[in-house]
Amino acid sequence: MSTGQLIVLDHVVAVLTAALWLAAGAVAAAGRTRVALGLAAGGVLAVAGRLGLVAVLAERGWWFVQEKLLVGVPLLVVTVVAAAVLAGRPLLRGGALPPVAVTALFAVGYAALAAFVVTYVGGYPLTWSVALLALAGVGAAVLVTTQAVAPATGADGVAAAPLSRRRFLGIAAAGAGAAGVGLAFVRAPSADAGGGAAAVHPAMHGTAVTDLRGPTTPGAGGTVRPYTVTARTATVVLASGHEVDAWTFDGRLPGPPLTAVQGDLVEVTLRNEDISDGVTIHWHGYDVACGEDGAPGTTQDVVGPGAEFGYRFRADQAGTFWYHTHQVSHVGVRRGLYGTLVVDPRDADPDDVDLVLPVHTYDGVLAIGDDDGVREEAAEPGASVRLRLLNTDSEPHRFGLAGTAFRLVAVDGRDVHEPGEVSERALRLPAGGRYDVTFTMPDGPVALTVDGSVRMRLGGDGDPATGAWAELDPLHYGAPAEVPFTLNTRYDRHFTMVLDRGAAMVDGGPAFAQTVNGRGHPSIPEQLVAEGDLVRFTVVNRSLETHPWHLHGHGVLVLARDGRAATGSPLWVDTFDVRPGEAWDVAFEAANPGVWMNHCHNLPHAEQGMMLRLRYDGVTGLAGGHGDAQH
Ligand code: C2O
Ligand code: CU
Repeated sequence: MSTGQLIVLDHVVAVLTAALWLAAGAVAAAGRTRVALGLAAGGVLAVAGRLGLVAVLAERGWWFVQEKLLVGVPLLVVTVVAAAVLAGRPLLRGGALPPVAVTALFAVGYAALAAFVVTYVGGYPLTWSVALLALAGVGAAVLVTTQAVAPATGADGVAAAPLSRRRFLGIAAAGAGAAGVGLAFVRAPSADAGGGAAAVHPAMHGTAVTDLRGPTTPGAGGTVRPYTVTARTATVVLASGHEVDAWTFDGRLPGPPLTAVQGDLVEVTLRNEDISDGVTIHWHGYDVACGEDGAPGTTQDVVGPGAEFGYRFRADQAGTFWYHTHQVSHVGVRRGLYGTLVVDPRDADPDDVDLVLPVHTYDGVLAIGDDDGVREEAAEPGASVRLRLLNTDSEPHRFGLAGTAFRLVAVDGRDVHEPGEVSERALRLPAGGRYDVTFTMPDGPVALTVDGSVRMRLGGDGDPATGAWAELDPLHYGAPAEVPFTLNTRYDRHFTMVLDRGAAMVDGGPAFAQTVNGRGHPSIPEQLVAEGDLVRFTVVNRSLETHPWHLHGHGVLVLARDGRAATGSPLWVDTFDVRPGEAWDVAFEAANPGVWMNHCHNLPHAEQGMMLRLRYDGVTGLAGGHGDAQH
């Protein structure tokens, strides 16, 4: 079973455990001892199942079970033992249970519930605050129950002893609760050095990120490519006639396609006409100088209505990229503030057919470019065809190519080494990611499917047969080649990011947040690196949703997934999908100084907290590194 499935099952069994024991308590209180016995027996089985699941999950990684082993399991074991001692015999004997036995049954239910809440709301890493609050919660619930099931007034002298026990329990629970609440306000350290040296350069006296600008001249043989892009609201009509109330670059969806040849100097003037939230342009996957990165509040001020900003970078990376606003991007990108950036190599022969195919969802309508129907394209048999697939949405898309074998020649704008020919394989593209596929046009038609339906036809009518094909796994595709680092390299810094949902502060307010190591933006410690460091990330997903992880300014090399090394072509990406229960190891060299956003590219998730910064020692972001990062 996959770790993701185990996590779901664990949630289900946890809730079931709580339900069975609470029901056992309630039924016992009502005097129906036989039924209570049955429920308790089921409860014991559920507890056993839970322990088994935790044991299996523990093998998948400490991240998945830490809080269960430290809080949930001990609470369950202690209360189950107490219930066995206090309620076991009376339950088996039948007849009305004494109050203490009823309370003991409830106590297991409270413990099971607390264990679930600790997992679901607290998560990883476990904090003292959460542990104490869980104890306090169980204690308080037991106390209230004791009161509720106690025989009505008029009981004999026996009542005196439980009262002092109750007082003790009450004081302990209140103390634990108060400590738990207090500890919740302890602030995270502001930086994480990942096991490397602490900052050498005082934060306030470094190079300002705004001084890290792109070159002013093209490379050898290159020219200057000036563009002006204007952000404005517009109503755009898709091919079907569907009207989109859009935020656009140049009044169109997507924005203007930017192209260059390797070595050209790209100069883009961004003007904002009327986007009241403001805009920027982030060059997704392009390793520009940090001052050109378009992260508002970190690398530049947001461009408000009437303002403009000039970007400049040399087109050194050939391949398929895209650009998008980084200001309130969960709204801005969705509504249309994005476009494609394609850089051709200087020396290569162009393909006969070269199609740039950004997939985007407008108001629930999927479109390729501005075509929300089935796109028709011409291609002669024998023609060399390149399809550049871009996922500009926040969820993954699944592509299929029917009627031809093909090669996946580039991932995220980086060439795959010796890509083998495949057919009848699906391509799952992470949010923000790009795949370039090539093939030689066959005699018959070719169809491109997105999420199971045909969205484009090449060369004539008739759809070739499509199917529910197995996914091509880029970690095991293509041929190995030399790489600068592997799982065995000694890294200067190693950062672990455990992704989950949980209670956390986001932008100053409490939320059921998308968290990194239990915290939300901007309370996640920034990652500190020094220029020249080899840096490793371990990204673990404990949640039930996919998180497309994206670091600005650097391509990362995929080392392993779930501890198993990648075996195919070196896989360099800027965005990788960490699915539920997965753990990815990736690495990069810190060779592009700056302050870089590091976030989930499901943009609503980033908005809900899943975003942090990676800062080079000696570089300061806007306002000394404490700027309010918009996103
Ligand atoms: Cu494509 Cu920070 O994003
Ligand atoms: Cu996410």
